[in-house]
Amino acid sequence: MQPCDLAPAYVRAIAPYQPGKPISELAREMGINEADIVKLASNENPLGISPKARAAIAGVLDELALYPDGNGFELKTAIAAKLAVDVSGIVLGNGSNDVLELVARAFLSPGTSAVYSQHAFAVYPLVTQATGATGIEAPALNFGHDLATMRAAIRDDTRVVFIANPNNPTGTLLDAAMLHAFLKAVPEQLVVVLDEAYGEFLDAALQAPSVAWLTEFPNLVLTRTFSKAYGLAGLRVGYALAQADVAGMLNRVRQPFNVNSLALTAAAAALNDVAFLAESKQVNDAGMAQLTQGVKAMGLEFIPSFGNFVCVKVGTAGRVFQELLKRGVIVRPVGNYGMPEYLRVSIGLPEQNGRFLTALAEILEGT
Ligand SMILES: Cc1ncc(COP(=O)(O)O)c(C=O)c1O
Repeated sequence: MQPCDLAPAYVRAIAPYQPGKPISELAREMGINEADIVKLASNENPLGISPKARAAIAGVLDELALYPDGNGFELKTAIAAKLAVDVSGIVLGNGSNDVLELVARAFLSPGTSAVYSQHAFAVYPLVTQATGATGIEAPALNFGHDLATMRAAIRDDTRVVFIANPNNPTGTLLDAAMLHAFLKAVPEQLVVVLDEAYGEFLDAALQAPSVAWLTEFPNLVLTRTFSKAYGLAGLRVGYALAQADVAGMLNRVRQPFNVNSLALTAAAAALNDVAFLAESKQVNDAGMAQLTQGVKAMGLEFIPSFGNFVCVKVGTAGRVFQELLKRGVIVRPVGNYGMPEYLRVSIGLPEQNGRFLTALAEILEGT
């Protein structure tokens, strides 16, 4: 008998999260210069870090011997001011992944269940399974969340529903009125997580008034991140918004110093870097047009996306992925999302998108 044999069966059954291939790894494996590699695999910001965040970090390096502010006062105050919410309803996380896990740890346990959609973000089943709860996958509709099916999937033992809007990896977006109707229809004792990791890439007219819904729905948890539009993926910082009692539950299972000092400082500075945010959106819109027009010209289908990535139907995606790697282009195969014919491509700078399109055309011509 080994320790691993005694780990709970539900932990042993977890299929670990598959991150995008790091540039350094591909450089080692293929003997390619790191500078010649284009990574469009993890929905990162091709502009890099917000200049305001960079400057702010430089100012706190001398304080790194001290523990961070476990309550994240400065960042929470900045978020509260920007969104006109109460500080008591904000929970900070080591990335929004962390807050998703806090929801699972606070509200799920063996004998309960969580509902999420087919093709939805992989972390929902992972955090559910880690608590010993049952994950219920509701069939998708045109690769997006089907709220009617999700509602029908809710059982008496369901405690949490996860919704990604826009969704990763499919990029699909739910209509705000439909979401609101869903919130009204589901049992009030259920926590509904509305994951808005890519919300900043939406045109204003498409953004759901989700913050206003927090007062109407005491069971609503919004999650947001600084990893995407704010360009701070490497620092790991995100947050949840909820009513104070639900936020209090999440804080009970949170590590005391879960967000590090650099992340707290950078996020507070980036939050109000309006120019950087606008440029991120503009680069994303232009890159999305470039990529989708490019693949369309090759006769390929894609799933219209509202995020900073797009899924392209390339046929045998595993093979195309490998061929792209040989040409120094890293994208993400999404076979683990039940989409074996698709590759997810993050939006890059014009030159990076061009590298992907040229390499893809070359591979497809060769077949
Ligand atoms: C839908 C969605 N939610 C949450 C996250 C978590 O991001 P982070 O932990 O970097 O905030 C991601 C990251 O890819 C995502 O795609």
